[in-house]
Amino acid sequence: MYAWIEELGTSSEAFSLFQSIFANTSDAILVIDKDGLIVTANAAVEKMTGWSKEELIGHRHICEVCVGMATCKEDTTCSDCFFKQVQIPSFEMRLRTKDGRQYPVAASSSQLPQGSTAKLVLILRDMSAQQQAEKERYQHKLTHYVIQAQEEERKRISRELHDGVGQALYSILVGLNVIGQSRINAQLKQHVAEIQQMAAKAMEEVKRMALELRPSALDDLGLLPAIRSLIKRVEQSFGIQVALDVRGDRRRYGPAIETALYRIVQEAMTNAAKYAQTDRLCIVFEDKGGEIVLTIVDDGIGFDPKQVETNGTGLGLFGMKERAQLLGGSVDIRSAEGEGTSIFVRIPLGKGDVEDDHSRPDR
Ligand SMILES: Nc1ncnc2c1ncn2[C@@H]1O[C@H](COP(=O)(O)OP(=O)(O)OP(=O)(O)O)[C@@H](O)[C@H]1O
Ligand SMILES: [Mg+2]
Repeated sequence: MYAWIEELGTSSEAFSLFQSIFANTSDAILVIDKDGLIVTANAAVEKMTGWSKEELIGHRHICEVCVGMATCKEDTTCSDCFFKQVQIPSFEMRLRTKDGRQYPVAASSSQLPQGSTAKLVLILRDMSAQQQAEKERYQHKLTHYVIQAQEEERKRISRELHDGVGQALYSILVGLNVIGQSRINAQLKQHVAEIQQMAAKAMEEVKRMALELRPSALDDLGLLPAIRSLIKRVEQSFGIQVALDVRGDRRRYGPAIETALYRIVQEAMTNAAKYAQTDRLCIVFEDKGGEIVLTIVDDGIGFDPKQVETNGTGLGLFGMKERAQLLGGSVDIRSAEGEGTSIFVRIPLGKGDVEDDHSRPDR
């Protein structure tokens, strides 16, 4: 191909070939004179900047189109400007459009032979879509990391509360029991009994906190037993009735799936108990083989999900969506004022997501 172009030499065929490449390439090509004035631009420049060729050629200085070169430390800088260099094979710069927008472009520049009015040729490629994709990938990774770290930390604190503070309180209770049964006067006995009550209350509280942070049932017994005991706690604490309907296979899933679904149910139930002003809640859990479909419905006062999204009031609904998306699934929230709230969760199940061991006590 290259030899063929060379063979064409300076013929008119070669000229029209290069003209066609110049006109049709999706990369923007700008030619700049020694004063920085744009002297040639192809159609892609018009598309990328919003300026017409007539407005650009002979009228615009390169600095009106270029905001600056990007470095790893700065968004844009004009030090070491490409215009002063002989050749830079690749760099990143920010382009300014006619309507004042800015976006990143991958660029390369090279000086033209001396003698001609043109000094430098600049080739630009729009990188905004790639950069956006890269940003989303990074945010995805970061969210995954934060959720994982948060779960690990909850597990650690829960264990320490249960095994450390919980055990210490238990020992205190046993000790107080011994003192209470020894030969002491009635007044002191009464005092010991009061402290015993306080210690028992503190122990209950520690147990509750440990459970809320990370129930050991989730790791030991699996998702459904953990959800069942969560339901019991919510029913007791908030005085609401929760109906759980389990359909399809009953099996254990990978820890990431079990944790995500548990947290989603926990958040949905807490929200319903806090805001819905209802005393009934229904959960349907269905293992469809290739995916898990979970629905949490309340018949309460409802809300406007769009408004909540724009106001950014809480993190709960956002967290539910993030957790599902990290597993390739989705959360769909349907609600309207006066019409209750339904939350639909879908989590796909791959080969490694389901544990084969049916003997595990997960029912
Ligand atoms: N089941 C529901 N019924 C009525 N309103 C709800 C329900 N679920 C959520 N909302 C409304 O949506 C808002 C946002 O919920 P979200 O869980 O995101 O945040 P939050 O509960 O306010 O705070 P956080 O969950 O971060 O502690 C709530 O403040 C509430 O107004
Ligand atoms: Mg919430």
